[in-house]
Amino acid sequence: MKLAPSILSADLADLAGAVALCEEGGADLVHFDVMDGHFVPNLTFGIPVLAALRRRTRMPLDVHLMVEDPDRLLDGYLEAGADRVAVHWEAAVHLDRTLARIRQAGAAAGVVLNPATPVELLDGILECLDFVLLMSVNPGFSGQPFLPYTLEKARWLRRRITERRLAVEIEMDGGLGPATIRQAVAAGVDVCVAGSAVFGTPDPVAAMNELRRIALGETV
Ligand code: DX5
Ligand code: ZN
Repeated sequence: MKLAPSILSADLADLAGAVALCEEGGADLVHFDVMDGHFVPNLTFGIPVLAALRRRTRMPLDVHLMVEDPDRLLDGYLEAGADRVAVHWEAAVHLDRTLARIRQAGAAAGVVLNPATPVELLDGILECLDFVLLMSVNPGFSGQPFLPYTLEKARWLRRRITERRLAVEIEMDGGLGPATIRQAVAAGVDVCVAGSAVFGTPDPVAAMNELRRIALGETV
């Protein structure tokens, strides 16, 4: 299991501090939520923000593009130092080309599915992907309740990936915390994004350790 804290829930006046906490807490990735105010009703981090964080950390930057027409912004985020980029299936018109561009730039290519988008749509293109990001809330905001029906999508994907001996990772995003992270991992999720469950707590480093312990089913 990899832990990917979402800095959307951090103190937005101190993103470098948030990334330093991710390092201290042993996080595997830093999840970076890009929202354009159109695809989702919220506006967050532009390309210069990613470039600035790239200069502050060597941690892998996991960029989640919640934007219309992702091709328009893709090169900017890749050049700014994204290690992984996921585009929404609902927003990508030329998905095959978009994924190829991400891989050509040396980054890992992912597709994100909204909760209501069927996962079976990806069956034919799993070979073109490095990871699938399953939304377990409707994208746009942190702190929303987990949608349990999305676990079935992770189970289906895990079965297909195993049957076809693929190396595609399954990432889940939204509402993951102490009460839900274990179920996600049991359903086959490899990468757990957590925003408010990390940065909404008084001690984010302790929260990361606790989430990892719960996710791995360890008892105290
Ligand atoms: C929601 C974002 C998430 C969000 C997760 O649109 O994609 O990454 O930051 O926050 P929590 O973990 O609080 O649901
Ligand atoms: Zn996200």
